[in-house]
Amino acid sequence: IDEHTPPDTLESRTLEALAKYIKDGEPKKIVVMTGAGISTSAGIPDFRSPETGLYANLAKLNLPYAEAVFDISFFRNNPEPFYTLAQELYPGKYRPTITHSFIKLLHDKGLLLKCFTQNIDTLEREAGVPGDKMVEAHGSFAGQKCIECRAPYPDALIKIAIHEKTVPHCEACNGLVKPNIVFFGEALPEEFFLNRHLPATADLAIVMGTSLTVQPFAGLPSECAPHIPRLLINKEVVGDFGYRADDVPLIGDCDTGVRALAEACGWLEELEALWAQT
Ligand code: APR
Repeated sequence: IDEHTPPDTLESRTLEALAKYIKDGEPKKIVVMTGAGISTSAGIPDFRSPETGLYANLAKLNLPYAEAVFDISFFRNNPEPFYTLAQELYPGKYRPTITHSFIKLLHDKGLLLKCFTQNIDTLEREAGVPGDKMVEAHGSFAGQKCIECRAPYPDALIKIAIHEKTVPHCEACNGLVKPNIVFFGEALPEEFFLNRHLPATADLAIVMGTSLTVQPFAGLPSECAPHIPRLLINKEVVGDFGYRADDVPLIGDCDTGVRALAEACGWLEELEALWAQT
């Protein structure tokens, strides 16, 4: 080993081994699980990072507690804080990150079984991941309906309400209208339950940018078969990572981590070119 060889750290060794596993064509069904941490470099704050997280910056809404802004019973009595925030969160003005493009690259290589995301920013779709490969476990802004009679509400009208920070009401029963993002106290979409058996059938799991604090999504990585490798690309160790011999913790920034993995797989040029097109 001369002075040019990178330090033989645990991560470089296991990353090399994982890349070899992938290049040898072992995994054919990769399940990806993502959270807000993969969109922070796009300019969207995550929720729980101490200084920059959304929950640390909601003081102006004087909520009883931070998560109340996404709590259905709080919303029913106080919809204003959510509609104040919705304008900042509404998709359309953010570009996918190279991490989103990495998920698209896995799809292009026929390796993506499914991407489970907790994010409501739709950046995986905007990076080109097809809808049938996505499970948006916490919903998205793609639609909206009345929380009382469940009547759908026109897209054009919700855009006006969000732009003007007004609270939209149902045209049929005058109930409150809410985008189809899953609030605390609401059930996850059926799509999540129809697909939650998939992690157990995957031959590689890649978990990125999530604190794994919100159930039932947080339980998905534990449902992977015991013998398969699970790669965590995250600024901190989370969930039950580290309890399995085949876990690969790549602790740090996810854009850096996906570039390192892509390079080890010989895909970096292709990944950068793919991202340049988004
Ligand atoms: N690179 C890697 N990891 C990052 C980065 C980054 N650039 N930025 C943040 N992280 C990590 C944080 O260290 C944290 O572990 O991503 C994780 C983000 O965790 P949360 O802010 O809790 O976001 P998430 O896990 O998606 O939250 C889950 O909580 O509020 C609800 O419904 C909401 O879907 C959300 C759910």
